[in-house]
Amino acid sequence: MSLPASLPPQNLHSVIDISLDTAYQGIDDRAWQSLFAGARQSGLEGFIADMFAGKHINNSEDRPALHSALRNLSQTPVMIAGADVMPAVAKVWERIEVISKQWDGVTDVIHIGIGGSDFGPRLAIEALAHVPGIQNRGMHMHFLANIDTAELARILARAKPQTTRVIIVSKSFTTLETTMNAKAVVAWLKDCGRNPEEIAQSLYAVSANVAAAKAFGILEDHILPFWDWVGGRYSVWSAVGLPIALQYGFETFKQFLAGAQAMDLHFQNAPLEQNLPVIMALTLLYQQEQHDIKAFAAIPYADALDWFPKWLQQLDMESNGKSIDRDGKPVKHSSPVVFGSAGSNAQHSYFQLFHQGTEIIPIDFIAVREPMSDRPEAVAHHRILLSNCLAQAQALANGKTASNPNDVYPGKRPSNLLLLPKLDAFYLGALLALYEHRTASLGALWNINSFDQPGVEYGKVLAKPIEKALASHQNNIQANADIDAVTAARINFLNSK
Ligand code: F6P
Repeated sequence: MSLPASLPPQNLHSVIDISLDTAYQGIDDRAWQSLFAGARQSGLEGFIADMFAGKHINNSEDRPALHSALRNLSQTPVMIAGADVMPAVAKVWERIEVISKQWDGVTDVIHIGIGGSDFGPRLAIEALAHVPGIQNRGMHMHFLANIDTAELARILARAKPQTTRVIIVSKSFTTLETTMNAKAVVAWLKDCGRNPEEIAQSLYAVSANVAAAKAFGILEDHILPFWDWVGGRYSVWSAVGLPIALQYGFETFKQFLAGAQAMDLHFQNAPLEQNLPVIMALTLLYQQEQHDIKAFAAIPYADALDWFPKWLQQLDMESNGKSIDRDGKPVKHSSPVVFGSAGSNAQHSYFQLFHQGTEIIPIDFIAVREPMSDRPEAVAHHRILLSNCLAQAQALANGKTASNPNDVYPGKRPSNLLLLPKLDAFYLGALLALYEHRTASLGALWNINSFDQPGVEYGKVLAKPIEKALASHQNNIQANADIDAVTAARINFLNSK
């Protein structure tokens, strides 16, 4: 598994200056050939074409998955049910641009949303904060997701009610956490003395359910729509990404879309053998065929990307964490557990297990060539950051022999190295789109529908009778059709003083 003196071409791939090095995957030429042949056999090329053509690849919900239309800056027609969606998409861009040039004097933005309506903009706001030279309006961007009022309390303690704007983001506009938090923030504005007209002027919504947003009391011209053909976890490219334009300007938001569009064009047109998302998907599939893979880690050596693994967790596990395929048959493989956090911090946490634990955990190391701040220390620190990243991958791949068993590193632990030339809006967009397409490619290889999430519903249904039982304050709840004996006992314990 050690890296040869010069990289054989099959290990190094590059698009828009993003390079992927798979040398530490231990995949030889023959294995690559068989992986690509398998990918062809599974119909991956047809799947990619169908996705961009707007076919209903989300078969369970009978919908296309056309988030790529949201970053189609060239506005070539994208047809859904015989109509081009690009004029509607472009109209939302215009509205984002107008809004992003207003909001003067706004000190705080409270963005209320959860899951796909939270991770993308939260990640982007943090990732771009220290890009050298970036325009930054310096608003306090608060992301409110949790129903736990500790988050609400923390935000409300900091925000200035007279100069706060609120964006309620929910594809469905029925998500309990979001609607309850929105009501709490509206109540806070009222308690702080803002009158109904002022409150109405401060509230905005982003949703695919415009009727529900209106019913909530949002002014019609404060509602930015998106559409049911955009999955929640694929939605940062829509007006869900409004905070990016507000904080960093519309041009930066466009750059973010442009990076993603460049990756779309690559994914759509490159042959499988040069296709970055496909190659990344195949490296995981290969390791699944070799080992009993239970987990996968993404380790960005970029502090600004600390939220990236959390965004990826939803993308991968909500998309592909399934045990049946598109045809209802049991799958051989599906998404492993996905985790990660920024390096080098992660080295001082769970890397012990990567090196000497019993699990083989494929890793994507993500590094950035240029320093990510303009501090005077940036060059020296960055060299150390990069050397740590390279050293970890080498140690994991090659291992080390020793007479003391404690000092033995088994090696043969696979990893990819993804290298971005720099971390700016363009490359952030490209990075996220790369992983979206990796996820979709894995879904296609496993024959899983990556665009629904039926498994999240049952718990939401069960929470309702449980909440009712907790609200009753009774401590003699009996097991019934909705609440089993264990949960009844837990409710009774919580309800007893
Ligand atoms: O419960 C899961 C989920 O539906 C995710 O798929 C989604 O990103 C999140 O909840 C939020 O949904 P919404 O945007 O409709 O509020």
